[in-house]
Amino acid sequence: MPTILITGANRGLGLEFARQYSADGWKVIACCRTPADAHELNELAAGADITVEQLDVNDFAAIDALGEKYKGVPIDVLLNNAGIIGPIPIAENAMRQHFSKMDYEVWEQVLRTNTFAPVKMAEVFLENVAASEQKKIVTISSTVGSIAEMSVPALAYASSKTALNRVMTIIAGQLKERGIIVAMYCPGYVKTRMDAFGYATVEVPESIAALRPMIADLTIEKTGSFTGHDGRTIGW
Ligand SMILES: NC(=O)c1ccc[n+]([C@@H]2O[C@H](COP(=O)([O-])OP(=O)(O)OC[C@H]3O[C@@H](n4cnc5c(N)ncnc54)[C@H](OP(=O)(O)O)[C@@H]3O)[C@@H](O)[C@H]2O)c1
Repeated sequence: MPTILITGANRGLGLEFARQYSADGWKVIACCRTPADAHELNELAAGADITVEQLDVNDFAAIDALGEKYKGVPIDVLLNNAGIIGPIPIAENAMRQHFSKMDYEVWEQVLRTNTFAPVKMAEVFLENVAASEQKKIVTISSTVGSIAEMSVPALAYASSKTALNRVMTIIAGQLKERGIIVAMYCPGYVKTRMDAFGYATVEVPESIAALRPMIADLTIEKTGSFTGHDGRTIGW
């Protein structure tokens, strides 16, 4: 069966990805910052082919170490899911990423997690993906980063996803001749902890159930694409 490595797999979309891929018989490498507190994930892993790995994606030495541990192991789908919207609680801290109130440390943190880390993951696990059958690097982005479609004042989050989309499309071009597919998805406005204001409309299982068939259908012709959970191509 194929193997998927998921970052931020302890809650929200990452946990549901782990649940659904595992239920489908995949081998899941589920990464999270604090395995000891990842009760739902540990429960899920107990009865399945899920290996829980400790990984803070901001710790690049830890990414290198995990890469060493998995050297030579084919990974069909590298799923960059971990992400942050900004400081928590969001409601109290939202203005810290708005123009005239910018907290530049926050911006650096958001860029490191949402933009640098997915690239670092792709660099470190590239040969694992290349050695697999499916050869897919999938990253969860957001329409909030779309230059064509949105202008959201959350400067840190928006710019991190805009930059993510740009670098992933560049990498897609570079990896195309090796047959490695790079794709981005927006999961919709989903009811996870990121939805601090309670406006989200999409249920977590619904979002992941919509994304998985699209990830399954990815071909090299679709490399560099950015797609919504509704199947719509997003102008990144
Ligand atoms: N929900 C939405 O409406 C929505 C819309 C568009 C895009 N997205 C994207 O979807 C992805 C998943 O978000 P979500 O909605 O599931 O949010 P969430 O419930 O807040 O989950 C975020 C996940 O990322 C992990 N994470 C954050 N920083 C990390 C780090 N430095 N190292 C490792 N893991 C880290 C969190 O782990 P901890 O528990 O340790 O904090 C958690 O597992 C993100 O990339 C987000 O930008 C979400």
